[in-house]
Amino acid sequence: MRVAVIGANGQLGCDLCTAFLDRGCEVIQLNHDILDVADFDSAKRSLQQAKADVVVNTAAMHNVDACEREPARAFAVNGIGARNLAILSNDLDFVLFHISTDYVFDGAKRAPYVETDCPRPLNVYGNTKLAGEYFVQTIAKKHFILRVSGLYGTNPCRAKGGSNFVNLMLKLAKERDELRVVDDEVLTPTYTEDIARQIVSMSEVKDYGLYHATAQGSCSWYRFAAKIFELSGAKVKLSIAGPNEFPAKVPRPKYSVLENSKLKALNLDVMPTWEDGLERYLKKIGTLSETTR
Ligand SMILES: NC(=O)c1ccc[n+]([C@@H]2O[C@H](COP(=O)([O-])OP(=O)(O)OC[C@H]3O[C@@H](n4cnc5c(N)ncnc54)[C@H](OP(=O)(O)O)[C@@H]3O)[C@@H](O)[C@H]2O)c1
Repeated sequence: MRVAVIGANGQLGCDLCTAFLDRGCEVIQLNHDILDVADFDSAKRSLQQAKADVVVNTAAMHNVDACEREPARAFAVNGIGARNLAILSNDLDFVLFHISTDYVFDGAKRAPYVETDCPRPLNVYGNTKLAGEYFVQTIAKKHFILRVSGLYGTNPCRAKGGSNFVNLMLKLAKERDELRVVDDEVLTPTYTEDIARQIVSMSEVKDYGLYHATAQGSCSWYRFAAKIFELSGAKVKLSIAGPNEFPAKVPRPKYSVLENSKLKALNLDVMPTWEDGLERYLKKIGTLSETTR
């Protein structure tokens, strides 16, 4: 199978390339400098050359504050970019995997969201990603849309200055004696290696459609930080931040837990718990405490 990964040098893109190579696929790595999803001709040229059976689109403008400042650019990448790839998936006959987000929901449900729940994004990022989903759903004959959440991986997240929440917490724990983290935002942190494995297994079936694909379980950022320090043995005093201590400039859902209900119904769910993913990530970056091993 020939697989083209768009955003191949990104956090998820790198792990996807490795996972497909490990599966014996030919992988074509398409980075932003050769393919701009917002530019139909550029996408067409690269994908015509790639002659891929499967294309995975990880490209996005997903810095939430930047999207709010530049809504037209966010829509061009997250909305029109997805539309361009959806059209090309029909014209060039490839299966399109498109990555979306938990931020299509407003959080009011306060219980895990399933694929049939009605989205209601709170910000420009969520709205433009939802537009991208609709373009893919209505245009591409062979598509998978995966809504993921709280990504971290060994490769730098390019949109977020090369760091991720786990690395940030580990860095701050070295620099400070005490840390305060919010407890009122609940999500499911997910290791990119696990999503990559999930996508590889889905590339072998034809159950096209919209899927939630996150690790199992959920936690607040505070509980996530506590687990990072427990597993890494970091010695730092952690406490819950007050409700207005870190005011967000842009509204975000307070609760964005996704249930992988469709993957489960089709017996396709290979996602582990978020704690399991975190432990393997810390082991991989050499930060797992000796007592946890
Ligand atoms: N990170 C999270 O916590 C999170 C949570 C939920 C959903 N998601 C979704 O997951 C996906 C992957 O996220 P990630 O963390 O792997 O992101 P990332 O590390 O920022 O990687 C994104 C990749 O897309 C490329 N890209 C950006 N704009 C592009 C364009 N117009 N045309 C072609 N390539 C472009 C970037 O290249 P340059 O850097 O060179 O521009 C980069 O290689 C995104 O769709 C995002 O919306 C992420």
